Amino acid sequence: MKVEMIMPAEGKNNLENYEEAYANFDWAEVEKQFTWYETGKVNMAYEALDRHLLTERKDKTALLFSDGKREESYTFAQLSELSNKFGNVLRNLGIAKGDRVFVFMPRSPELYVSFFGILKVGAIIGPLFEAFMEVAVRDRLEDSEAVAIITTPALLPRVPVKDLPHLKHVIVVGAEGELEEGQISYEKAMSEASSDFEIEWVDREDGMILHYTSGSTGKPKGVLHVHNAMIQHLQTGKWVLDFQEDDVFWCTADPGWVTGTSYGIFSPWLNGVTNVIRGGRFSPEAWYETIEKYKVTIWYSAPTAFRMMMGAGDEIVKRFDLSSLRHVLSVGEPLNPEVVYWGMRVFNQRIHDHWWMTETGGHIVANFRCLPIKPGSMGKSFPGIYASIIDDQGNELPPNRMGNLAIRTPWPAMMRKIWNNQAKFDEYFRFPGWYVSGDSAYKDEDGYIWFQGRVDDVINTSGERVGPFEVESKLVEHPAVAEAGVIGKPDPVRGEIIKAFISLRAGYEPSEELMDDIRKFVKEGLAAHAAPREIEFRDKLPKTRSGKIMRRVLKAWELGLPTGDLSTLED
Ligand code: WTA
Repeated sequence: MKVEMIMPAEGKNNLENYEEAYANFDWAEVEKQFTWYETGKVNMAYEALDRHLLTERKDKTALLFSDGKREESYTFAQLSELSNKFGNVLRNLGIAKGDRVFVFMPRSPELYVSFFGILKVGAIIGPLFEAFMEVAVRDRLEDSEAVAIITTPALLPRVPVKDLPHLKHVIVVGAEGELEEGQISYEKAMSEASSDFEIEWVDREDGMILHYTSGSTGKPKGVLHVHNAMIQHLQTGKWVLDFQEDDVFWCTADPGWVTGTSYGIFSPWLNGVTNVIRGGRFSPEAWYETIEKYKVTIWYSAPTAFRMMMGAGDEIVKRFDLSSLRHVLSVGEPLNPEVVYWGMRVFNQRIHDHWWMTETGGHIVANFRCLPIKPGSMGKSFPGIYASIIDDQGNELPPNRMGNLAIRTPWPAMMRKIWNNQAKFDEYFRFPGWYVSGDSAYKDEDGYIWFQGRVDDVINTSGERVGPFEVESKLVEHPAVAEAGVIGKPDPVRGEIIKAFISLRAGYEPSEELMDDIRKFVKEGLAAHAAPREIEFRDKLPKTRSGKIMRRVLKAWELGLPTGDLSTLED
């Protein structure tokens, strides 16, 4: 097959020669750029904020925030001072190194201040997506035995205070009127807090951030990253995102997901770059306007958003001045070649697809600015990292053979632990020397990696990872539902949508109203993005003899494919 290539644009890139870098690069060189290389003392918050105060970046704009209502900007010095204050708020409550503290709120300056205050006391931050409902919040706080949560009045009803013995403090941002026992007003506490703060120095291998993510079985798993990850956040920022001093960077991801922290927070600020954070809802107009208004130079987004913008038409694009853009990137789901060609046409920019996951902590495979792009491919291994394809026995496969996308261990931002679940952690590392991703792919003779799908049943809808088991568990709590099986159904815009096959309890009949009610039940019980867009009622669902619903068969039904080996089917 002949593959069309899109050649690099003219201009200076941080990474000019990929082959040379790949041959010679050494992570140890990156370490030397951090303060802790000299002092032995490390804290992500220091490296991302405080350190810049000793340089010309002190009064540089770190954060440009807008959400349609508020519009504010903060310098590195301001963020450093505010997070010092919040560090004091937490320390006064007795919160200390290793404690788990969650943030559960929409994007706001206070979210970012809290974020760094938590890191400054050496605590482990757990970011929660604002769409989570009570069960999802409880699962995460319970599993991690969190001691505190920072939230807003609107989200407070979803914080199950009473059931959680470890949760001692609830800090409320923007509270009006009296708070209940155990609740603290963020504003009041901040106004009383000193901005002198002695940062908690930690070890590079100490816990920093806990991201919960979905697998195909069981509840979401807490993926723990340590401060050492900053090595990779810094360098991938330089070479994949191509951060230069005057850049204005916009990562569209919410900090409830890993892209919104590794690259929405850590990487730009470690590199001292001005970071645009936009809250509020998606609309093509609002997004183009954001680029125009802040003169965004580097734009980091995801395929579903690009597809929605493409769907909105080329005419809208012409109404905005997007000439500031110099680098565009996409992550999280397969990027169709069609979208890459669209990007060339409307922005005159290559959209650089790349690959990584919550567990990897940072970029692993990328399209680099200095290399040709083969539309449809996620690119090549980052220097200092070796990604390849292995079979189910752990043997590396030759080029162009499909298999498990795997990474040679270790790399700096690799997860260090799955909270309370050593067995799950070990599963990823079942072949000596390899991390097995759960994705299938092949690598061509030039080292470009081509995504083929998930090996397991994990659903990727609009770039969000949803575990079918969680949705199924919620569905069967509905009084009408006897059994439920959930799959990802291919969708031209969202990549996949969630489809549920449901058998009803005696006395219930399929109807549109029932479908709506079931959908609403999941939306309000778990999370909006986890609610099935499609529901199909069936008298019976295919099950193994041990009673496990066979999602593979459901998928085959859906796609009109042969159902394969049914020897374990119930009857
Ligand atoms: C998928 C998001 C195709 C993949 C950073 C992976 C992708 C999962 C790509 C991780 C890509 C990520 N092309 N699929 N460029 N990037 N994925 O943990 O299945 O939310 O395993 O991390 O998204 O999702 P996660």
